[in-house]
Amino acid sequence: MIKKCLFPAAGYGTRFLPATKATPKEMLPVLTKPLIQYGVEEAVEAGLNTMAIITGRGKRAIEDHFDISYELEHQIKGTSKEPLLNEIRSLISQCTFSYTRQVEMKGLGHAILTGETLIGNEPFAVILADDLCTSTEDSVLKQMIKVYEKYQCSIVAIEEIPMEDTSKYGVIAGNLVDGTDDTYRVTDMVEKPDPKDAPTNMAIIGRYILTPDIFDILRTTKPGKGGEIQITDALLEQAKQGKVIAYRFKGKRFDCGSVDGFVEATNYFYNKTKG
Ligand code: UTP
Repeated sequence: MIKKCLFPAAGYGTRFLPATKATPKEMLPVLTKPLIQYGVEEAVEAGLNTMAIITGRGKRAIEDHFDISYELEHQIKGTSKEPLLNEIRSLISQCTFSYTRQVEMKGLGHAILTGETLIGNEPFAVILADDLCTSTEDSVLKQMIKVYEKYQCSIVAIEEIPMEDTSKYGVIAGNLVDGTDDTYRVTDMVEKPDPKDAPTNMAIIGRYILTPDIFDILRTTKPGKGGEIQITDALLEQAKQGKVIAYRFKGKRFDCGSVDGFVEATNYFYNKTKG
């Protein structure tokens, strides 16, 4: 059973400067809820109850968000505003939060390795909160847990992207399994390839289920594209043993790490509230 979810949230969020100078990117709100809260809600919906968050300098607001603010509670108790805290209160009561800092930002793979002390020797989920996912059926992570239960190996969520965008993503190649039209056994993975070098247009988005042997692999993974330790390079080692499944999820993903994606998500959720 997967119970733990890792949230790498140490990145600088430079595409949102100056907003992210003193505010974590993960705390930017889509409507009234910060990005990371959507991620934690998705994890809880998937049945996970232990949130492990990788933070860095200037990210304390994340810890405060998932804690009780006694002064605020006291001020709004019994007023018409009290229900605005219901969702976050309920979330806090359903799960635990632990934190560790990534001292140097050496990439997503390094951030995940930093989480080893919080995860231990068990399979775990990873959510990149700046990829905001929504689905009319099960949440994306819940769909992935079902795939994990069947294949018992690492799972990456994928989406077809325009070929000219391959240089922004990890891209996979693979073969469909078990007569499905959405589940591939991965044969190759490349981090941010030029379109001319990309094996396909199937891009990895910010949802993973990883088996704990990934930590040993990450320990020896050399810096790759951009001089960062890439999770894609570590996953390729598992893929060579046939131990990575790519799953084309049902639902929608917004790249809230970019201004365009963030605005698109905001409009989408706003229109949804207006029915
Ligand atoms: P991104 O590259 O999208 O995030 O990393 P960033 O570096 O914060 O953003 P920009 O490009 O400067 O605008 C994907 C995810 O990995 C985390 C980020 O916080 C983000 O959730 N990350 C990345 C880390 O936790 N540590 C790192 O060293 C790098």
